[in-house]
Amino acid sequence: MARPTKSIHGEWTSRWAFILAATGSAVGLGNIWKFPYITGENGGGAFVLVYLACIAVIGIPVMMAEVLIGRRGRQNPINSLKSLAEEEGRPKAWRWLGAMGVLAGFLILSYYSVIAGQALAYIPRLFFGVFEGVTPDGAASIHSALVNDPERLLAWHTIFMLITMFVVTRGVQHGLEKSVRFMMPTLFIILVMLVGYAANTGEAFDRALHFLFDPDFSKLSANAILTAMGHAFFTLSLGMGAIMVYGSYLPKKTSIFKVSVTISLMDTGVALLAGLAIFPLVFANGMEAGAGPSLIFETLPIAFGHMAGGAFFGGIFFLLLVFAAWSSGISLVEPIVAWMTENHGLSRRNATMLSGGIIWLLGLLTVFSFNIGQEWTLFGMTAFGLLDYLTANIMLPLGGLLIALFAGWMMNKTSSAEELALGNGVLYHIWLILIRFISPLAILLVFANLIGLLNI
Ligand code: PHE
Repeated sequence: MARPTKSIHGEWTSRWAFILAATGSAVGLGNIWKFPYITGENGGGAFVLVYLACIAVIGIPVMMAEVLIGRRGRQNPINSLKSLAEEEGRPKAWRWLGAMGVLAGFLILSYYSVIAGQALAYIPRLFFGVFEGVTPDGAASIHSALVNDPERLLAWHTIFMLITMFVVTRGVQHGLEKSVRFMMPTLFIILVMLVGYAANTGEAFDRALHFLFDPDFSKLSANAILTAMGHAFFTLSLGMGAIMVYGSYLPKKTSIFKVSVTISLMDTGVALLAGLAIFPLVFANGMEAGAGPSLIFETLPIAFGHMAGGAFFGGIFFLLLVFAAWSSGISLVEPIVAWMTENHGLSRRNATMLSGGIIWLLGLLTVFSFNIGQEWTLFGMTAFGLLDYLTANIMLPLGGLLIALFAGWMMNKTSSAEELALGNGVLYHIWLILIRFISPLAILLVFANLIGLLNI
């Protein structure tokens, strides 16, 4: 199969359009909802340090590899991998790596949408001042009233799926570019404002700084290391083809290195700001840092409930969080839709409806795992816990490992050097060493450690 020189879905209008869309994919619930709560559960500083190391050593090189494969292949991840493998004289079976990514997209969006639905439900609650003067207990009970009600949760999950599918039908380039352009900067400004508010908590702010940046390695378990690595993939949207498929719409002349570093820095910046906004509130109100997935829904409303103009800013904040989740959700289905249209001749609209329907149904598992299905567990995890563990901790790192091996070992050096266009210099060789040895080894070590082979 010869590879096309351009994607049939069109290209981004500029380098910035790609950076914005890929940042839109990367920045989402992972940064604002998940990063703080897993940091809380895993003891803070040491966990954050491992996460940052994973971004630098594994995340950035793998992101470059994904963009490179996507742009060279110019199709959905399954076909791009297949045609590049053929071109390099490697087994066509590499396309199964793309297929695993498509499957991961289905599974992740099914629970992602339910959490995004909760954020959506918070928008009217904030605008209408429901949280005004709220106590920590009050905020917790408002949140549990929402998640304990399967019908309400289902309704919000349905709305989120519908708006996501709506943009996907219209084609990512048209649907996405405009919204991301104004949304990202505004989200950033409100986060900075929240950090400013949190800084006024005085002693609690110091405790938060200490908690986030003062590593205590005795708190680091094998599972915490796996979670940190898995999160590095999740937050950068790596290991499942989202960035790869966006890369396939990238014009040839753009520097893959520069865009990858820019996206990773913005993504990490947002996560750290979210941590700095949330933990001071946790400590100032005597709340539990390890409260789990409900953390942001129970802490942030307290801040909004007590500051001037809080109802307004809080409403805007959750609105922007939904936008951020929206642009991530879109990128989770894009590999699926690109594959259905390119390989199975479905129209974009039908492909979107079909995949959206399946994801919506799968989402019921997560909806019920917060209420009537709390007791349905497997390996001690609820359906939501299991989906999250399987995708973020296993499928994405495994996908990332195989992507690194493909770009590093299966592709000829002249092909990767040509596509990255870094010249024959130091930067290219650093990337090559990272992608060939360091990233795969790091991922393997974390897996080995988890199954008890290393015992760190
Ligand atoms: N990166 C997104 C977030 O942080 C989630 C995501 C994962 C999106 C994988 C696409 C692919 O919320």
